[in-house]
Amino acid sequence: MTDNRPIGLFDSGIGGLTVLREIWKTAPDESTIYFGDNSRAPYGTKSRSTVIRYSLQNLKFLESKDVKMIVVACNTASAYAYEELKARAKVPVVEVVTPGADDACNATKNGKIGIIATKATVSTGVYKDAVERRAKELGMDNIEIFQQACPLFVSLAEEGWWDSEVTRLTAEEYLKPLKEAGIDTLVMACTHYPLLTKVIGEVMGDGVTLVNTGVATAKVVRGLLDKEGICSGRNEEPVREFYTSDEPELFEQVAAPFLGEGLPSGTKHFTTDKYEVTV
Ligand code: DGL
Repeated sequence: MTDNRPIGLFDSGIGGLTVLREIWKTAPDESTIYFGDNSRAPYGTKSRSTVIRYSLQNLKFLESKDVKMIVVACNTASAYAYEELKARAKVPVVEVVTPGADDACNATKNGKIGIIATKATVSTGVYKDAVERRAKELGMDNIEIFQQACPLFVSLAEEGWWDSEVTRLTAEEYLKPLKEAGIDTLVMACTHYPLLTKVIGEVMGDGVTLVNTGVATAKVVRGLLDKEGICSGRNEEPVREFYTSDEPELFEQVAAPFLGEGLPSGTKHFTTDKYEVTV
């Protein structure tokens, strides 16, 4: 069986592009529709009910585009809204927390795992729970988890300051307790953070494995396409569409250097706040 409909992704802004880029690698034949809710970003400082409402509105938009799968390419939305999204969606929903937690357990040697995320994600404890659950399944009894909220990383990433001195100083400050704790694995549990991989990696040093939840999630998407028998069967080039709730030019300016090859182009403006949802 084949299914030529696109995969829909949403994030609060450009962070989900780190997931999209990895999905393009594991599922290159698939068409994709990406919605960045830049005008309402960040989600990581909003309340639970607000993030759930935004996420359900984004779901309505993507479903109106007849997608075959929704990828919640935002850790905060995954942490707060996954259950609601899954309950209301007509298509399979993939979140980014569980895949990241699984990769962290596979990567660690000394059992000391750091998790950096938005304040919202840290406060839910979903990552900690997911890592502990996975470690238990693997029979690992030496797991220690150290969490750190790094809220400024989101603005630095949105600003395009991926390798600047201010980012380095900020990273040194945030990551100090994790270095002191002797972690050997660090989960970048926010989809914006892989944009800062160079700086985060340099500050943490060679001995620390960085887990990119986008990479982990893209493997899950590939597996689900195969398992559900919904891979694209087309022969022509896949379509890659972008929408943003803010200025398309701004979105493209920041996104293009990350996605390479001048992508994306033809980004359209759309706001999802018109959708009525009950939370
Ligand atoms: N993309 C969000 C996440 O992964 C971070 C940005 C935000 O706070 O909206 O948590």
